Amino acid sequence: MSGQNPTTSRKTWNNRWTFMLAAAGSAIGLGNIWKFPYIAGQYGGGAFVLVYLLCIALVGIPLLMAETAIGRSTRLSPLNAMRKLTSDAGVFRGWEVIGWMGMVTGFIILTFYSVVAGWALSYAWDLLTGVFNGMSADQIGGEFEALTASAPRQILWHTLFMVITVLITARGVHKGLEKGLQVMMPTLFVLLFAMLGYSILATGEFMRGFHFMFDVDFSKITGEAVAAAMGQAFFTLSLGMCALMAYGAYMPANNSIPRTALNVAFLDTLMAIISGLIVFPIVYAHGLEPSAGPGLLFVSLTSAFANITGGSILGFIFFTLVGIAALSSAISLIEPSLSWVTERFAINRVLATWLIGGAIWLVGLGSVFSFNIWADVKFFDKTIFDLAGYMTDVFLLPLGGALTAIFAGWIIKRSVMSNELAMSVGLFNVWRIAVRIIVPVAVALILYTALK
Ligand code: PHE
Repeated sequence: MSGQNPTTSRKTWNNRWTFMLAAAGSAIGLGNIWKFPYIAGQYGGGAFVLVYLLCIALVGIPLLMAETAIGRSTRLSPLNAMRKLTSDAGVFRGWEVIGWMGMVTGFIILTFYSVVAGWALSYAWDLLTGVFNGMSADQIGGEFEALTASAPRQILWHTLFMVITVLITARGVHKGLEKGLQVMMPTLFVLLFAMLGYSILATGEFMRGFHFMFDVDFSKITGEAVAAAMGQAFFTLSLGMCALMAYGAYMPANNSIPRTALNVAFLDTLMAIISGLIVFPIVYAHGLEPSAGPGLLFVSLTSAFANITGGSILGFIFFTLVGIAALSSAISLIEPSLSWVTERFAINRVLATWLIGGAIWLVGLGSVFSFNIWADVKFFDKTIFDLAGYMTDVFLLPLGGALTAIFAGWIIKRSVMSNELAMSVGLFNVWRIAVRIIVPVAVALILYTALK
């Protein structure tokens, strides 16, 4: 499916849907299905959702375009892309820090992401084997506690997820993955819509869930909530850590970056909103709390699956697809480090993937232990699992994103970006104002409030 790009030795994805699929695969994952409902629940719903949507539109979409354009203009790994662009522009090499930060951030995210993806696999298996049959919502909640209390059980699933990630990543992003995603992403969509139908028709609480998500109580817009909403916007669109820069390097020159960015942002946001509309009505129908935390998706949906005929098999399919959505995101979390390591050292891709994957797996044990033997080990009042999420969402991704925006808006030659984006002058100028001013100012304000 791939061919040589005439101007460089790097391969591009010939099929114009491949980039779209890979970018959507990166964006759509646990961030939409697991994290969005749980964070929206913790910050009280509507107000959080509103700020989140604003961040997607004003900060997310312009940055999505910038990152992809940077990757495509150089066709190099993120770190080497930054190197080339800084030397082309004749500016301070310090900008390379964006590439370094991206690798580190992706690494940290994957350490806890893999643990949560492991939970999804564990739920798929337990549903299939009928563990939850006939259980009450309380008992199902107890099962989540039991899973997280058990280090060995979590290690098993975390290991399985990392091994699958490494096996697929080692083959090269565009091989193995493309065909699988073409089938699985649409299936996930269909299943989410089916679940949405269930929430609307069968829970009797749809409107309550709907109001929770969309009624805006302005008193709930605290500095912390705004910082969390912005972090979530970065996280869910895979921004601020060079993932889309790494993928942009393979994007065919005749694909439209703005159109693709809009499509990806739209699909991603739709998935998050639907996930919320599935989860909250079920939460109310089963007497659960929206603010229950990281177990929200697992406990609420499993309570529903335990109550519907054929629920076990449906639940199995659902959580398997969640695992697969997580997989396509995980691959993009490794890609920046992997593409750099293989460019930098004379080491083959397979070995490099195992080394990086192994290191992520090891550090991920810290997240596993956060729920059991190291539950009391806290830094800044947070367990390792919470800290990894907080550091990446609130600091590293927004900071990486703001630096990328400044770089794309102020440092890179205007003509390079306008060639890549190929928009009308008017729209290009709007984009430029967004990356030059709106993104950096928004991030600075929010970091300031978060730190205060
Ligand atoms: N966007 C992915 C999700 O929502 C997570 C991710 C973050 C992937 C950053 C790559 C980079 O699940």
